[in-house]
Amino acid sequence: MKPRIFVTRALPDVVTAALKKRFALEINRRDRLVSRLELLRGVKKADGLIAMLSDTIDGRLIEAAPRLRVIANYAVGYNNIDLAAAGRRRIVVTNTPGVLTETTADLAWTLMLAVARRLPEGEAMIRLDRWTAWAPTQLVGRDVHGKTLGLIGFGRIGRAVAKRAEGFSMEVRYYQRHRLSSMEERRLRVRYCPLARLLKESDFVSLHLPLNSDSSHLIDRAALRLMKPTAYLINTARGPVVDESALIDALEHKRIAGAGFDVYEREPHVPARLRRLKNVVLLPHLGSATQETRTRMGMMVLENLTAFFAGKKPPNRVN
Ligand code: GLV
Ligand code: GLV
Repeated sequence: MKPRIFVTRALPDVVTAALKKRFALEINRRDRLVSRLELLRGVKKADGLIAMLSDTIDGRLIEAAPRLRVIANYAVGYNNIDLAAAGRRRIVVTNTPGVLTETTADLAWTLMLAVARRLPEGEAMIRLDRWTAWAPTQLVGRDVHGKTLGLIGFGRIGRAVAKRAEGFSMEVRYYQRHRLSSMEERRLRVRYCPLARLLKESDFVSLHLPLNSDSSHLIDRAALRLMKPTAYLINTARGPVVDESALIDALEHKRIAGAGFDVYEREPHVPARLRRLKNVVLLPHLGSATQETRTRMGMMVLENLTAFFAGKKPPNRVN
């Protein structure tokens, strides 16, 4: 008998085919966000669950899943899962670290360049057929190369973003709780900077830390006040790391130059006030969204489930 796995959303075809060889899959029929009821029904008889970052896996859901023994999150972040509740039931939780690092770093750079060079406004001008002539003062943005990049959170993704900054001759500062050794800092060509100073001195501030009780609203009104009026804030981490309403105020009053966001406080809700602003680039949580990476993430989910049901320790266990 193959273990029964509930999958909350359609995965890339190659991944589904590979999973089917080992597991009895039940996949959310309609390819849209699974409803709470569908999720409750789905986990009822499942031995395993493949969850998306958009699924809230809380204590009540776990209680409604008497046979559930493993949750494989199709994401590196796992703030959507109540680990304490999973732990009480001895349910193993896994994620997909590493495989999306470079892809997410590419997207942080996409946002940085797009917001500084006013890409959406320029693109819209052409699509709306409103471009009348080249002009010295038209859609003038700001340089990225040669500026100071401040990274908050300096794990795998933060480091991959820093590596790209070398090609742009940027000075890179980082802040995180644990400072690296000076040898590591020299090797990575970065300098440690306390949070307040990093916010004060950076031209681009990019967030690369997981969401937890320490990082929730780390970028609040006071933090935004420290940033330069010419600086940009980039978020490819998790929405609640930034106080969104404070951010909107700062952008509306031009207290910062702009923002490039891929994640939001209450996804998929993006406040109308944010959507109305010109000095922002807004993407729908696309950090890992490439064919290569979404397939690799799926294969990692498969490896984790395969190891678990073979009685081995899954390679990417987080609890
Ligand atoms: C994406 O946001 C992920 O955590 O994989
Ligand atoms: C990415 O995999 C990270 O945790 O930085």
